[in-house]
Formats: sequence, structure tokens, C-alpha cells
Amino acid sequence: MEFMDVLRSFFLVAHFVGLAAIIGPFLLQARWKGQFAFPVVLGGAITQLVTGLVLVGLAEMRAAQMDFEVDHVKVAVKLVIALIVFVVALLGFLKQRKTEGGGGRELLPFFHTAGGLALINTALAVFW
Ligand code: HEM
Repeated sequence: MEFMDVLRSFFLVAHFVGLAAIIGPFLLQARWKGQFAFPVVLGGAITQLVTGLVLVGLAEMRAAQMDFEVDHVKVAVKLVIALIVFVVALLGFLKQRKTEGGGGRELLPFFHTAGGLALINTALAVFW
């Protein structure tokens, strides 16, 4: 395996770990009434943005060598969705920090939006 392939595999694994950090808490806590794991979800959202952009860079380099095109529309759509995931996770995280006892139902929309959009991005990544 060439160095660039190892690098791509490394960041793809990190991309899957970031995905798990958003969708894992969502599945576990979807019906909870508060105390959502926003720090984990926020970490996952940041991981997705960083590893996703690195993967795009690596894909551009492969594309130049192997004569194919990176789908920039797909990348842009995934980036916008991932940015929304990041913003709602950050808002949930910050609001939770200000609330006694880990916050309650008022944080549910932030938590569900982050998890739902991460699921949509997963489907986009695979079906598109
Ligand atoms: C919540 C956010 C995200 C989720 C859940 C997600 C999910 C996924 C999944 C499941 C794959 C594997 C698809 C496959 O190999 O068939 C993938 C690949 C990829 N993602 Fe994401 N992604 C997210 C954010 C991003 C962002 C923000 C970018 C870049 C702006 C990005 C760029 C890529 C690229 C380039 C690949 C292909 C890597 C390769 O095969 O070389 N992703 N993503």
C-alpha cells in the first residue's frame, strides 16, 4: 500500500469515529429528557469537518493522478450539512453549560437536529 493510501485509510477511519460520536449518542439518548452528551457530539462534529476536508484534499490529489473528478457539488452539500451539525452541537453544548444539572427538554431540538443531519449525511455519502 502506498503512503497516500495509508493516509486516506487513516483519515477515513477517523471520519467513521467522528460519525459514531454523533450518531451513537443520538441513538442511545433519542428518548431521553435531558443530560444529552453534547461534548461527545460536538467533538464528532469537529472531527467530521476536519477529517472531511483532509479527505477532499487527498481525493483531489488522487483525482489529478488517476484522471477522475471529485464531485464538488456533493462535497459542498456535505460541508453545509456538517456545518449545521457543528452549529447546533455547539449551541446545545453552550446552553447546557449554563444550565444546572445538564439541561432538560429545551435542548432536545439541538440534539435531534445534529443526529438526524448526521444520518442524512451518511446516506448522502453512500447513495450519491
Ligand atoms: C456529519 C458529517 C459527515 C458524515 C456523517 C459523513 C459520512 C461519510 C461516510 C459514511 C463516508 C464513507 C462513504 C463511502 O466510503 O462509501 C464518507 C466519505 C467521505 N466524506 Fe464524509 N461525512 C461527513 C462530513 C464530511 C465533510 C464535512 C466532508 C468534506 C467537506 C466530507 C468528505 C468526505 C469525502 C471526501 C469522503 C470520501 C473519502 C474517500 O473515499 O476517499 N465528509 N463520509
